[in-house]
Amino acid sequence: MRAPGASRADAPPDPAPAAAAEARSRAWRNDRAHVFHPWSAQGALDPVVVTGASGAHFWDERGRRWLDFASQLVNVNAGHQHPRIVEAIRAQASALCTVAPYHAHPVRGEAARMIAGRAPGDLDRVFFTSGGAEAVENALRLARLHTGRHKVFSAYRSYHGATAGAILATGDPRRWASEPGAAGFVHFWGPYPYRSAFHARTPEEECERALAHLADTLAAEGAHTVAAILLETVVGANGVLVPPDGYLAGVRRLCDAHGIVMIADEVMCGFGRCGEWFAVDRWGVVPDLIAFAKGVNSGYVPLGGVLIGARIAAGFDARPYPGGLTYSGHPLACAAAVACMRVYEDEDLIARTRRLGETVLGPALEAMCARHPSVGEVRGLGLFWAVELVRDRRTREPLVPFNAAGADNAPMAAFADACKARGLWPFVHANRTHLAPPLTIAEDELRTGLEILDDALSVADRYAAT
Ligand SMILES: Cc1ncc(COP(=O)(O)O)c(C=O)c1O
Repeated sequence: MRAPGASRADAPPDPAPAAAAEARSRAWRNDRAHVFHPWSAQGALDPVVVTGASGAHFWDERGRRWLDFASQLVNVNAGHQHPRIVEAIRAQASALCTVAPYHAHPVRGEAARMIAGRAPGDLDRVFFTSGGAEAVENALRLARLHTGRHKVFSAYRSYHGATAGAILATGDPRRWASEPGAAGFVHFWGPYPYRSAFHARTPEEECERALAHLADTLAAEGAHTVAAILLETVVGANGVLVPPDGYLAGVRRLCDAHGIVMIADEVMCGFGRCGEWFAVDRWGVVPDLIAFAKGVNSGYVPLGGVLIGARIAAGFDARPYPGGLTYSGHPLACAAAVACMRVYEDEDLIARTRRLGETVLGPALEAMCARHPSVGEVRGLGLFWAVELVRDRRTREPLVPFNAAGADNAPMAAFADACKARGLWPFVHANRTHLAPPLTIAEDELRTGLEILDDALSVADRYAAT
């Protein structure tokens, strides 16, 4: 199965002559001297100098080439350098590079129309941002203004972005360094059957108990003080946690019962990644707001936004919305979004993603789970999967401790190195590897990547009890 026009497995250029090699090492030196990288101790960095990419592959200045099982940061859903998206950006750049957000613009309007047309329920208005964190910030602002309340509920196992509010809503350890911040961010445990916080034995029990825990936490906090429940529909960086059937509908009911705004963060899981336009579609749940970014235009030009339901949008018919961004609805980003959504449709990528998850990725990972003592669980949807690595399948002790740093992380580093040495670029976080290749990946490329993963898991097995 090959998506039309999908696999452009172009070879990287030959290893370069001396002059070009010098120029490339200058790129590395410039980076190390002047680029301050996110989330990193700067002194320890040795970044790959990426010089090109095509389809599901990218390569570096030394001619090394990797199959991108991370879609960079789970954003390049349409694959690298898709010619239709590149052309759309080129055409828009020739016509008009930028325009202030207070003007109307044909491509911005078309992008909003297309996004709204694919969104569930009455989510009909789009506020554009430049990325995911800003989308979350504006969703929180909308929820607070709509309700007149201030508290925000979100899950411990979550990531919502690195700006002031989004990082406080984030549940994972990335939040700690930004505390204390504004008050009113409350965290709760979401469902995670493999490591149930509720001693549940089945997904049904997990669902019921996770909802009871959320209801109790709301009661303890005063549900009337809560503006929003913000949750990733499918938790991304914290483990590709697919909610049990009934969970999202239960959250919707709690929000309705208490007048709380339900915000789905679909920055990572939206736009086809889970085999649906929006992951909520799988469960037929309509949130009040959806935060999106990444896959909306595959990150070719930075773009994010908030989809706004009718009730909340109506509140700003007469009063001004007190928020804005110079680059809201940037024409180059919107042109990329229009082209990207057309690619998803014309290449039937969303249904194909669902099918590949069910027929190729899921079964292959289940088989690896049975073979490798280091694999505790595999889970996912579409082209969005996690392999959870453990020291001991019986106790489920993670292969590296929670929030491991330095030497403690050696088993995961060895696993990642084994993938990279064989030509696979993995997404590695904590004790997991996530599989999130471009949705355009050819089936033979996907199978090749799975073979490399299978091999690399033998390295992880060395650290696991047999
Ligand atoms: C679920 C989720 N929300 C928000 C963000 C923040 O997006 P950005 O990095 O574009 O600000 C991310 C980024 O990975 C994410 O995964």
